Amino acid sequence: MKKLLKYNSCNILISNNLFNESNYNFSILRNKRILIITNKLIASLYLSKLKKLLYSVTNYLEHIAIPDGEKYKTMVTVNNIILVLLKKNYDNNTIIISFGGGVISDISGFIASIYRRGIDIIHIPTTLLAQVDACIGNKNSINHKYGKNMIGTFYEPKLIIIGLNFLNTLSKKEIYSGLSEVIKYGIIMDKSFFFWIKRNLKNLISLKLKFLYKCVTTCCKLKVNIINKDKIDNISRILLNFGHTFGHAIEKYTNYNYWTHGLAIAVGIIIATYVSLNLNIIKIKHAKLIRLLLIKAKLPIFGPKNINVNDYIDIIKYDKKNNTNSINLILPVNIGTAKVFYNVDKKIIIKSILDSKQDLLSKV
Ligand SMILES: NC(=O)c1ccc[n+]([C@@H]2O[C@H](COP(=O)([O-])OP(=O)(O)OC[C@H]3O[C@@H](n4cnc5c(N)ncnc54)[C@H](O)[C@@H]3O)[C@@H](O)[C@H]2O)c1
Ligand SMILES: [Zn+2]
Repeated sequence: MKKLLKYNSCNILISNNLFNESNYNFSILRNKRILIITNKLIASLYLSKLKKLLYSVTNYLEHIAIPDGEKYKTMVTVNNIILVLLKKNYDNNTIIISFGGGVISDISGFIASIYRRGIDIIHIPTTLLAQVDACIGNKNSINHKYGKNMIGTFYEPKLIIIGLNFLNTLSKKEIYSGLSEVIKYGIIMDKSFFFWIKRNLKNLISLKLKFLYKCVTTCCKLKVNIINKDKIDNISRILLNFGHTFGHAIEKYTNYNYWTHGLAIAVGIIIATYVSLNLNIIKIKHAKLIRLLLIKAKLPIFGPKNINVNDYIDIIKYDKKNNTNSINLILPVNIGTAKVFYNVDKKIIIKSILDSKQDLLSKV
C-alpha cells in the first residue's frame, strides 16, 4: 500500500490489490465500532473478504447493504440507515466505511456528516469514477425530485483507500463511465494528461495496472490541487462541474435509469463544447479533439432520443451554479483550460443543444 497524497487531515492510499495488504496496520480502525455501508452487489462480491481483512483490528464490525442504484441516493435511504444507527446506538466512537461507487460514498458521507453532528468516515471506492472523483474531496450529496445532488454537505473523510483490483469486476459500461470524468480533468486543466489519455485509452479500457495507476493518481492529484485552493464551491472548484449541467439534466430526465453519471456527463461535455463553439471561444480543431476522444472512449455524444431542448432548459434552471435568472456554465476554451461563463444567452444554449443533436462537428 502506497501513500499517494494527503490533503488537510485525509490520507489517500493506493494499492494494486487491497486484499493482499494483510500486513498493513489499519491503526485508525483499532477498537473503533465500524459500520460498513455498501450495496447488495458489492457485498456479494467483496464483503466477506473485506471483513476478514478488518477483523484483525476490531471485532465491532457490522454492515448495511442497500439496494443498488442512483435512484436510491435519496433522503429515504438516509433515513433508513440513520434509523439503524440510532436503534443500535452507534456512538461517537464509530467509523463509517463507505464501500462502493459514488452513490455509496455520497450517501455515506452525507450520513457521517449529520449523524450526532458528525462521525468519522473512510472511503473504499470500488468504481473508477469513485476512485478518480466521487470519493476525493469533501462533497456529499443526495438527490431530490427537484434535482440531482440538491441536498448535501461539505465533510472530509479521514482516509481514502483505493484498491485497483476492484475495477476487474466492473462492467465495461462503468469503466467508460469513469473515463468520462478522467477525460473531464484533461479538458479542464491538464493538456498533457488529455493527450496521454488519448494515447493510452486501449490500455486503460483493458485495465492494465501500470496505466490505471497513472490515471487514478493523476486525477487524484489534480482534484486535490483544486480542493486545496478552494474548500467550498468557488471559482476554481466549480470547474470540476464541467459537463455536469447538461449531464445532470439527462440523469434527472431519465429518472436515473440506464444513463449512468459518467455517460450523461459525456453528453454534457459535448453540449458545453458546442456552446463554446457558438460563443467563438474554442477552435474547431480543439472541439473536434474532444468529440473524438469521447467517441474513442466509447462514450455517448448524443443524449436520450426523446429529450428535447425545453426539457433541458426546464431542468437546468435548477442547476446549483445558477443565480436567480442567469444560466452559468463551465466551458472549454482550449484543451487543458476551461472557464466559468455567467449569464450565458439562452438562445446560444438552445442552438448548441440542437447542434449536438445533429453532430455538426462531424461535418466540418
Ligand atoms: N461527491 C462528489 O464529489 C462526486 C463526484 C462525482 C460523482 N459523484 C456521484 O457519484 C455517483 C456515481 O458514481 P459511480 O459511477 O461510482 O456509480 P455507482 O455507485 O452507482 O456504481 C456504478 C455501478 O457499479 C457497481 N459496482 C461498484 N463497484 C463495483 C465493482 N468493483 N465491481 C462490480 N460492480 C461494481 C455498482 O453496484 C453500480 O451498479 C453519482 O451519484 C454522482 O453524483 C459525486
Ligand atoms: Zn461527476
